[in-house]
Amino acid sequence: MPIVYLGLGSNLGNRKANINAALKKLGAARITVEKTAAFLETEPVGGPAQDKFINTVAKAFTKLSPEELLTQIQTIEKSLGRVRSVKNGPRTIDIDILLYDQLKIKKANLTIPHPRMLEREFVMTPLNEIAPNMIKKMRIIKTIQNLRKELIKFRLQNQRIGFVPTMGSLHQGHLSLIRKSVKENEITVVSIFVNPLQFGPSEDFKNYPRNIKKDQSLAKQGWADIIFIPNEKEMLNSSQLTYVDVEKLTQGLCGAFRPGHFRGVTTIVAKLLNIVQPHSLYLGQKDIQQAVVIQKMTNDLNIPVNIRVCPTVREKDGLAMSSRNQYLSSAQRQEAVILYQSLQLGQQFIQAGETEVSKILRQMRERITKNSPVKIQYLACVDPVNLEPLKIINGNVLLAGAVWIGNTRLIDNINVRAISRKNK
Ligand code: PAF
Repeated sequence: MPIVYLGLGSNLGNRKANINAALKKLGAARITVEKTAAFLETEPVGGPAQDKFINTVAKAFTKLSPEELLTQIQTIEKSLGRVRSVKNGPRTIDIDILLYDQLKIKKANLTIPHPRMLEREFVMTPLNEIAPNMIKKMRIIKTIQNLRKELIKFRLQNQRIGFVPTMGSLHQGHLSLIRKSVKENEITVVSIFVNPLQFGPSEDFKNYPRNIKKDQSLAKQGWADIIFIPNEKEMLNSSQLTYVDVEKLTQGLCGAFRPGHFRGVTTIVAKLLNIVQPHSLYLGQKDIQQAVVIQKMTNDLNIPVNIRVCPTVREKDGLAMSSRNQYLSSAQRQEAVILYQSLQLGQQFIQAGETEVSKILRQMRERITKNSPVKIQYLACVDPVNLEPLKIINGNVLLAGAVWIGNTRLIDNINVRAISRKNK
């Protein structure tokens, strides 16, 4: 009999009772629930402000076809008071078909597997609990030779390979890159290598946070297929004499304060691209200079890869997620959001029609210095394509900054769209 996995959630009325009632009604509708995950309280995603949800995932057997199952579920939702007046609004009960055997269905009213399940913690956590084997088996590979051997199989089957290079200490920002790659490719490779070439002599290479076990479990949650964890000997032989240096783009912003950093990044990313030979490379907007530099490198060296820059993932207060956030004390953590607030202030000035960059940067600087002990390394307003500093705003711009909070250096940036002249 087909096995189905259903996601259940409720944030209106007696949430636990609603879910229990739904499980009972599923049984009565010839959908035999075999097990359910522990109830999980989660924040709502999308929609208006509303209460937290209780969620679970149920494994069930049914002879119903996917379409019949959907009809039964909608009947159960209705009988438990579900009203669909506000999109993503509060609801007594929500039941989603996550998986139906190995079926793939794409219809106007029904997509299986559920199209957003990978992005949803409230689905993936309970699903992992009751069906750890449903989550694809992730391979851990440590050598270049083994990785090449593995990947050639997929290449021969014309499968698309997505690649997420990381230095480990994975967080939700990395997870969003992994999930994007999983969505867009048949195979996703995540590399974890703390690259000594990109750290200056007084930087935090030795203390850079390393937590391989946690990284593996997060990559698995994202449904990565292969995690590549080479050691230093594997990646950098001591007689290496070749380095990749992108000129100009690496001079300003972070490059001005971290000599040699981007040379280290481009050298290692060029090597990784040659090893993995992915169709697409996934990078975060948070390290925008890195993304621009890597894009230029791949253009200049004719490396055939599609670069995908994904949005910065932020904490609730706006702080950009970063592996280095874990260095912050709780007082510093509270202060850290000031960088993002200063970028937002710059954005407000630009959107209000201010075009003089010196004035905008002064306001941004004051926002930080007047309100916190945070030390500014730089705040800049640059052209988003060539990263050249601007004097006058005359189109889309990139506002970027780096600050020191105690011994921790944090960076952030936002793209600001030009306001249309007509609206001025
Ligand atoms: O962004 C990072 O974590 C690193 O710079 C990268 C791209 C993995 C290269 O070491």
